[in-house]
Amino acid sequence: KILILDFGSQYTQLIARAVREANVYCEIIPYHKKFEIDASLKGIILSGSPFSVNEEKAPVVDIADFITKVPVLGVCYGAQLTAKVFGGRVEKSNKREYGRAMMQKHINDVLLHNVSDMSQVWMSHSDSIKELPEGFEVLATTASIPVAAFRRINNNNDTHSLYGLQFHPEVYHSAEGKKILQNFLVNVCGCSQDWTPAHFVTDTVEQLKKQIGNRKVIMALSGGVDSTVAATLIHKAIGSNLFGIFVDNGVLRKNEFQQVLDTYNKIGLNVKGVDAKQRFYDEFKGKTDPEAKRKVIGKLFIDVFQEEAHKLEGIEMLGQGTIYPDVIESISVHGPSVTIKSHHNVGGLPEKMHLQLVEPLRFLFKDEVRRVGKELGIPDEMLGRHPFPGPGLAIRILGEVTEEKVELLQDADHVYINGLREHNLYNSIWQAGAILLPVKSVGVMGDERTYEYTLALRAVTSVDGMTADWAHLPYDFLAHISNEIINNVKGINRVVYDISSKPPATIEWE
Ligand code: XMP
Repeated sequence: KILILDFGSQYTQLIARAVREANVYCEIIPYHKKFEIDASLKGIILSGSPFSVNEEKAPVVDIADFITKVPVLGVCYGAQLTAKVFGGRVEKSNKREYGRAMMQKHINDVLLHNVSDMSQVWMSHSDSIKELPEGFEVLATTASIPVAAFRRINNNNDTHSLYGLQFHPEVYHSAEGKKILQNFLVNVCGCSQDWTPAHFVTDTVEQLKKQIGNRKVIMALSGGVDSTVAATLIHKAIGSNLFGIFVDNGVLRKNEFQQVLDTYNKIGLNVKGVDAKQRFYDEFKGKTDPEAKRKVIGKLFIDVFQEEAHKLEGIEMLGQGTIYPDVIESISVHGPSVTIKSHHNVGGLPEKMHLQLVEPLRFLFKDEVRRVGKELGIPDEMLGRHPFPGPGLAIRILGEVTEEKVELLQDADHVYINGLREHNLYNSIWQAGAILLPVKSVGVMGDERTYEYTLALRAVTSVDGMTADWAHLPYDFLAHISNEIINNVKGINRVVYDISSKPPATIEWE
């Protein structure tokens, strides 16, 4: 494996994803965390950082120590730190360098194998390396910086190859960045590129068999990609000793409860559907605050799930679809980050239940979960589903949630989402949904005036949900959907389209 030491760059996860894309396994750890250097560790990548190496509080690691044991690649801050630690000079540039630059290759090192002589790279730094340490040489330059890529000259058999890149090979706009990373992984570190979905499935099923033995596992399923893929892996390992629970909390999409159960049935999972709609509706009464609504859902869900667990005998373990971005220890450079909204689906269950955790996706990124799902034969319609928030339609009904409003929103949402599918727009959008506003306005239908609800449509493009833009849906499509909803869903007489990006807005309205 490869270790990525994180110095707090916003791009660290992108490095990890690029490494995984090259079918090499890697992990991210905070730069100050101790790690073992054994035969399985093939190389270390030092990430970027918001710090300057010359700041007093700048994060440092002992590169001189581990370079005697494994190859190292420094990226941006990682490269500057390398240069500085070995006696080079890093200084503030008079000109900050952000964005596109053309890199000229001077030495055809294995790291730059098959990379064009002039190649577009993406920069994001205000310091630059003015002078390399003794025993180092420049591999490439750009018009504004003398050191875009460097290596340590290898004349000492005790040490491994040491490289630095001033630019960010991991970002999309570094045209040949992935190739450079792959060269490091394969040509320098000697990694075999065998981190594939097929291998992952075989290895994981073996490990799960060992971990679980003949104990029984219970798991809450949500119809989402992560829990479905996790459950399918566990099922492959232990068969009918896995007990899935899928709760209808009354705020699922139209027909979703039945459809999801049918799909689980098709995959062969042993899942019990629990209709708890009424209990949720009762609890929603009088609650208008979004966080209060989230709490109702979180708490009641745990109650229902625990009741089901008690009905089963001898359950000792709890399966969960936790994925890597939920568990990466991020290093906090600007102090603890504030809770903006409580996303309740991470954590919550285990401590109370005293069950041992089974989390087969703990080290996968979302796109890897989908690839593993495909390998497992899970239908595309399940793997390609848009994300759907845990609190479901409850946070898309602004204000109090009632059964009537849920039905109204389910019908409107159904028209919208089906429309997106029929017009081949569904897959180009990251997430879409309809929001029922607590606003009534006047309309006219036939000879009568109406006074009914307003519905907002939301569709966004995004990569990870952290930032998003409103999707530029065709006007004709919006016209068609608006018509369909107003004519078919009694209670809505006005449809609007949300044209806000995130930030400053969020994807959901509550
Ligand atoms: P926001 O609205 O914060 O949403 O831009 C980002 C992503 O998170 C989902 N979301 C939630 N998921 N529980 C969840 O499980 C929640 O309370 C919650 N709130 C938002 C949202 O649908 C989007 O995919």
